[in-house]
Amino acid sequence: MDFKAQTLRRRTFGIISHPDAGKTTLTEKLLLFGGAIQEAGAVKNNKIKKTATSDFMEIERQRGISVATSVLAFIYKDKKINILDTPGHKDFAEDTFRTLTAVDSVIVVIDVAKGVEAQTEKLVEVCRMRNIPMIVFINKLDREGKDAFDLLDEVEQKLGLSVTPLSFPIGMGYDFKGIYNIYEKNINLFSGDSRKNIEETLAFDDIENPELDTIIGENAAAELRENLELVKGVYPEFDKEAYLNGSLQPVFFGSALNNFGVRELLDCFIEIAPSPRAKMSEERLVEAHEKDLTGFVFKIHANMDPKHRDRLAFVKIVSGTFERNKPYLHVRHNKRMKFSSPNAFFAEKKEIVDISYPGDIVGLHDTGNFKIGDTLTEGEILHYKGIPSFSPEHFRYINNADPMKSKQLQKGIDQLMDEGVAQLFTLEMNGRKVIGTVGALQYEVIQYRLEHEYSAKCTYENFPVYKACWVAPEDKNNDEFKEFKRIKHKFLAIDKQGQMVFLADSQFSLQMTQQKYPTVKLHFTSEYE
Ligand code: G4P
Repeated sequence: MDFKAQTLRRRTFGIISHPDAGKTTLTEKLLLFGGAIQEAGAVKNNKIKKTATSDFMEIERQRGISVATSVLAFIYKDKKINILDTPGHKDFAEDTFRTLTAVDSVIVVIDVAKGVEAQTEKLVEVCRMRNIPMIVFINKLDREGKDAFDLLDEVEQKLGLSVTPLSFPIGMGYDFKGIYNIYEKNINLFSGDSRKNIEETLAFDDIENPELDTIIGENAAAELRENLELVKGVYPEFDKEAYLNGSLQPVFFGSALNNFGVRELLDCFIEIAPSPRAKMSEERLVEAHEKDLTGFVFKIHANMDPKHRDRLAFVKIVSGTFERNKPYLHVRHNKRMKFSSPNAFFAEKKEIVDISYPGDIVGLHDTGNFKIGDTLTEGEILHYKGIPSFSPEHFRYINNADPMKSKQLQKGIDQLMDEGVAQLFTLEMNGRKVIGTVGALQYEVIQYRLEHEYSAKCTYENFPVYKACWVAPEDKNNDEFKEFKRIKHKFLAIDKQGQMVFLADSQFSLQMTQQKYPTVKLHFTSEYE
C-alpha cells in the first residue's frame, strides 16, 4: 500500500466523557469489533496488570482512575484506527487537553440518565474551539434515562453543539426495544430476555411499512414514526462537510455494555471521520500528505515498564513517514537524533516498528531529551502550535526535605515538569519554587515519583494564589510596566519557558491590577493571540 493510501486509511481519535459515562466500556467494545481483543474486560484487566507491576501505577489503582493516556490501535474494515485514551479524572484534565491536540476527531460519550456533566462540558469546549469533528454517543440506553429529545436539547444548549441524530432509540430502560438507524435505514432489535445481544438487524427503508407494527408492536411503531417525523422536522440533514468542519455533530444512541449500537457507531465513524488532518505550525500549515516527516510530542509517560527506568515520549505524526534509525531533527535542541526502537501501539500492546504513517503515534524511548510540544522534522525549522499551559488551580511551595539530594530533586522536578505533570514557577523575589497543578492529587504523584524515581524527598507549603496570569506588556519600556514590576514584585514569577507570570492572590487583586495597568495584558493561558 502506498503512502497516500496508508495516510487515508488512518483514523486517529479520542473518546471523551465524564468519568463513569462508559468510555472504557466503549473503547473495549470497539477493540472487540476490531478483533484486537478476544474478551470483554481486557482493557480494564490490562490497566490492573500494569498497576501490579509498577509502583507508580499503584496510585492510579488506588484511586481507581486512569492516570495514563494510552494508545490503542486496531484494524477495522481495512481502516487503521488509533484510539488515544484520555483520563477522565478532572485532576488530569490538562493531560487530556494535550491529547486533544493529537486527535483528528472525537467521540463524546454521554450517560443517558445523567445527561451532560461538568467534565464533558470542559472537554467539548476545547474541541469546539479547535473545530475538531465530534460524534456524540448516548450510552446506557438499557437503563431508564432522560427523554431522547430532551437530551438532544441539553447537548445543544450545554455543549453549544448543533446536533443531528443518526440513530434513534425505540423505548428505553425496561421498554428498550432497539434502535432505528437513520443513517443505514434499518432496525436493530434488542433481545428481550437476555438483553445482552442484538437479536437481528432488519432493513427498513420505509418506516411506514406495516410490518413494523408486527415486529415492535403498534404503540412503539406509532411512537417511532412520530419521533422520526419530529427528527426530520427539527434537525438538519446530516452533512459530512459540516461534521468535518465542526459545525454539525451526529448523535448515536446505544449501550456499550450490551454491545448495542456500537457497530453502527463504528461503521459510520470509519466512513465519515477524517483521515489525518493538516496541522498549523508557527511557520505554516502542514498537510498530512507531505512526504517529509513532521511530528510533535504530546505526551511523555514515565516508567511504563518498571524494568526500564526511562520515559516514553508519544509523538503524533503529522506528515511523512517515521522510519526506524533515520536521523530526524529535534528542532528545539537543533540536534539530529536516530531512534533504534520506536514503538508502535497495537491493541493494548506496544511493539517496535520500522515505519509509521501520518495519524500514527510512535513511542520514543527518552532519557530526558524531550518535553511536551517538541517538534521532530527532517530538517525544517518548524514549531507546532497549540499546547498551551492553563492557569493551575492549586499552588504550593516545594521544599527540599533531604539536603544531600538537592541535585536529584532539581533533576526530578525538571523532568516531571517536562512531562507536563504540573507547572513550575520560580519567584523573582527569592528564587523559591512553586508547583502549580490542576488537582491536588498531582502533589501526591510528584512526591511519590520524586522519591521512587529520583531518590529525592520534598515537602510542600501552602501558597495562596487565585490565578496565574501570563504577562504581556504592550510596551516593555513604558513607565506603567516598570511600575507594575516594582509594585507587584512579590507576585511575579518565571515559568519554565522563561515567560513572566503574575500570581494573583485574589480575584479582587487581579481586577485591581488589570484596571491599574491597562497596557500590561494578563492572559490565563501561556499562548495568546
Ligand atoms: P468510564 O471509563 O467512562 O469511567 O466508564 P466505564 O466504561 O468504566 O463505565 C462505568 C460504569 O458504567 C461501569 O460499571 C460500566 O459497566 C457501566 N456501563 C458502561 N456502559 C453501560 C451500558 O451501556 N449500560 C449499563 N447499564 N452500564 C454501563 P461499574 O459497575 O462501575 O464497573 P464494572 O464493575 O461493571 O466494571
